[in-house]
Amino acid sequence: MKNDREIKTILAIDTSCDDTSVAVTYENKIVSNVISSQVEMHRKWGGTVPGLAKREHAERIDQVIQEAIKQAIKNVKRAKKSEIKTNLKFDQIKENTEKELLRKAFEQIDAVAVTNGPGLSVALGVGVAKAKELALSFQKPLITVDHMEGHLLSSFAESYLSKKSNAEIKLPALGILVSGGHTELIKMNEIGDYEIIGETLDDAIGEAFDKTARILGLGYPGGPTVEEFAKKGNPNRFDLPIAMKNSKGLNVSYSGIKTAVLYLARDLRGEDRVQEKPKKESWEPGKAEPKRVEDTKEDKLDKQTIFDICASFQNAAILTLTNKIKKAVKVYEFKSVLIGGGVTNNTILRREIYKTIAAYNKKARERITVHYPYTESLFQDNAAMIGVAAYLSNTALDQNIYSRNTDISNIDRQPGKRIDETS
Ligand code: KG4
Ligand code: ZN
Repeated sequence: MKNDREIKTILAIDTSCDDTSVAVTYENKIVSNVISSQVEMHRKWGGTVPGLAKREHAERIDQVIQEAIKQAIKNVKRAKKSEIKTNLKFDQIKENTEKELLRKAFEQIDAVAVTNGPGLSVALGVGVAKAKELALSFQKPLITVDHMEGHLLSSFAESYLSKKSNAEIKLPALGILVSGGHTELIKMNEIGDYEIIGETLDDAIGEAFDKTARILGLGYPGGPTVEEFAKKGNPNRFDLPIAMKNSKGLNVSYSGIKTAVLYLARDLRGEDRVQEKPKKESWEPGKAEPKRVEDTKEDKLDKQTIFDICASFQNAAILTLTNKIKKAVKVYEFKSVLIGGGVTNNTILRREIYKTIAAYNKKARERITVHYPYTESLFQDNAAMIGVAAYLSNTALDQNIYSRNTDISNIDRQPGKRIDETS
């Protein structure tokens, strides 16, 4: 089946990294979005451990699917109570056994959507296998979705329980994708028509936050702690490099700033610069868990110095990006900006992007509007954005939909997939 415009209700799955997530979406509206985070478990190892992520996804996925359906039932009931117009009938499902619940839910689900890349190969495999199994056993089409397209289109998502609609997003848009694995500037011409106009040449911005936190012994993931500590710090105390400030293009780099933080911390601790870099613990099945990384260190740095390093790092990391955003909006004629990915959580990053665009708007003929998802649960990895992206790209185009049994069995993960490549 190609170009099926009747697909509206979608069960979506994302297992690209260390969150097991399943959602039910109706058009661009989120009926339910369940995220089972593995972060507490990976924290002890100082980062995501692929083998552990795979094991946890496999153990949790069925339960998360059940939970997403139960939440959908609750939310449709709530919607009806609030007199929100709906033609979904999830509220009529009464089955108690897991099998029956699934069967009844699939009477209303039009398609299954799944992230097939980019991400951790072994983790993606769990979601893709489950999506294929569901699509085949309930005879539904399967839509594969690019994880970064999910983040990019997350600003289009709306709540099923709200009567309000989002402000209109005009195209072309500048997508600013900031996560633990990616830092990309995207020119979005239409849904499904994307160009990567700038990207990191090495580490992602979220990774730089995580590595800075590891150097300072602040645990994993580092972004939220670094942001918290930065509030109490002086961003001007340490001069950290703003990478590629004067380079012509729109690419960025975050490995220099990470090394600068490493050397700064060593100098301040009175340690030798040339030592082994702080590493993640390695894991194999059966190995006992280590102590939490942050519990193993007595730091020679005083609290205020740690706050100041966090503030100086955050300032430089954000400036590295806003410098390129400033250039991008001058080169291209964008009508809007869409921010997506885990680092969207950072309030200073959002504020600085707003300021950059406001400065541009002062002199511009046509104003650029700034958008990001309406709720924080859409910043981090989640399946609702995958359902919404599947719906939007399916309505706009006729790609990546598989329906015949033979088609579906050929689907596989694409861990190194890029948003500007088709399928
Ligand atoms: O999109 P995401 O949930 O997963 C990936 O696809 O990578 O992004 C996770 C990244 C992590 O590197 C995390 O440290 C970062 O987002 N992050 C933040 C904040 N909250 C999460 N970075 C900076 N400030 C934050 N408040
Ligand atoms: Zn992500």
